[in-house]
Amino acid sequence: MSNIPSGMNKGLTSYGDQGFSLFLRKAFIKGAGYTNEALERPVIGITNTGSGYNPCHGNMPQLLEAVKRGVMLAGGLPVDFPTISIHESFSAPTSMFLRNLMSMETEELLLAQPMDAVVLIGGCDKTVPAQLMGAASAGLPAIQLITGSMLTGSHRGERVGACTDCRRYWGKYRANEIDAVEVEDVNDQLVASVGTCSVMGTASTMACIAEALGMTVPGGASPPAVTADRMRVAEETGRQAVRIAKEGLTIDKILTEKSLENAMRVLLAIGGSTNGIIHLTAIAGRMGFDIDLDALDRMGRQTPVLLDLKPSGQHYMEDFHHAGGMATLLRELKPLLHLDALTVSGKTLGEEIEAAGPGFAQGVVKSAAQPIYPQGGIAVLRGNLAPGGAIIKQSAADARLMEHEGRAVVFENIEDLVTRIDRDDLDVTADDILVLKNIGPKGAPGMPEAGYIPIPQKLARAGVKDMIRISDGRMSGTAFGTIVLHVTPESAVGGPLAYVQSGDRIRLSVANRALTLLVSEEALNERAINNPVVTPTADRGYRKLFLDTVMQADKGVDFDFLRAVENRGKTPK
Ligand code: FES
Repeated sequence: MSNIPSGMNKGLTSYGDQGFSLFLRKAFIKGAGYTNEALERPVIGITNTGSGYNPCHGNMPQLLEAVKRGVMLAGGLPVDFPTISIHESFSAPTSMFLRNLMSMETEELLLAQPMDAVVLIGGCDKTVPAQLMGAASAGLPAIQLITGSMLTGSHRGERVGACTDCRRYWGKYRANEIDAVEVEDVNDQLVASVGTCSVMGTASTMACIAEALGMTVPGGASPPAVTADRMRVAEETGRQAVRIAKEGLTIDKILTEKSLENAMRVLLAIGGSTNGIIHLTAIAGRMGFDIDLDALDRMGRQTPVLLDLKPSGQHYMEDFHHAGGMATLLRELKPLLHLDALTVSGKTLGEEIEAAGPGFAQGVVKSAAQPIYPQGGIAVLRGNLAPGGAIIKQSAADARLMEHEGRAVVFENIEDLVTRIDRDDLDVTADDILVLKNIGPKGAPGMPEAGYIPIPQKLARAGVKDMIRISDGRMSGTAFGTIVLHVTPESAVGGPLAYVQSGDRIRLSVANRALTLLVSEEALNERAINNPVVTPTADRGYRKLFLDTVMQADKGVDFDFLRAVENRGKTPK
């Protein structure tokens, strides 16, 4: 019998007397009515991320009940505990500012409280990355449960869902194509139930990535939040949590180079959110790996987009689920995957694909022979404007603008953008390139999703639907357009973007993966000397910690002290 403490004996509070610490702990938990028999079982911690501010997690009570049932059926003791919950629309200045805080809290609670394995329940964009980052650092056996997507609604006969249609209808309103009454009407229909955004936004992307990493039970990514399938996944997750606790299947056996590469493949094949790259980079960093952006670009050239979901395609998450979910996609991607990567089920990814059966006729996951887009959705750009890289989601961009040179129209920060973008005297044409500075990791701070710069109102009214837009920020995975993001290094730390001026010429060539500012190095140096950048700071609190330690997009916007101590090099090799 192992001498390593387990269950309620783990991580005893320091009173200088271990026996007393355990005696006291048991006394307290018995105050909640537990028996000795219950307390001898493997303890499964369950993160309760329910919050009145987070409708994406609105099914938390039902999920908790189902997970606990699964744990009990398998002979474990379920213990749920609260952690921070982050929702995109209820987090100022941006949810990304809080992701690392949630990861730190998750890590510390996993280590401080006695548990043999943990079920991480997350869904809204930043929660799953934060939980995987925290769990990776904590090193326990861990399993991810996704809250699931919302249902779609209906507006005047048209099917709608957050958030691609939110942006589309708001764009119509800005262009005077619909009136105030209609925009209020559609507001009632865009989020038809609790659950995460119903398109291939960041939440759905991270759900698919979590399954591709092997961190969920098979089929864990796609069931909508309010369905029986979602509850069965929750029960099974609880059951499997007890097994991984008994087997000691720690997270480092799941989050490997192979599973990270599988996740990158899936990110490309689903036309996933650009935010997925940042989160995957941060998760990999917790295991000591650097995601190689150039390798991602090479993989992108070989990986077709197969999933026909908005914003790159037509369908919604519930359609993906009806089409068989991730098993259908993974079956099609098999030649490009590491099938021997281990999953939390104890089986390899290849074994799980086999177990899912042969599949059936459906119209949501395309075949590799007839993809919806021949190359991966995301291209990595380099050049004198982005020496550390930038990205563009080409599957959601306008093909006409992929090779384009134009005049820069520069906004110094978000306030400048808000003040001037809709003015009738703004000097801008549809051929210009909109540039927004100071929305990077330190700039805003927190790298908000303001990279989806709105089309200036006077152009929108004239029917302009897309323009090239460049920033050091992020954009929602539910957005679309010819938008260059994550320009690294960011302007707030003196990256070249800081020195772009209105009237400069910029050239974008997606074919050459190049983003070029057509200004001489001498001129840029002179601008830097005449107008040096002052990097933002703060005097106290979490904001100070954030600004002092946050890294750039190519390091996942994680805090420098949270990365694994040992650097295991670039992945994939
Ligand atoms: Fe929560 Fe979109 S706002 S997933």
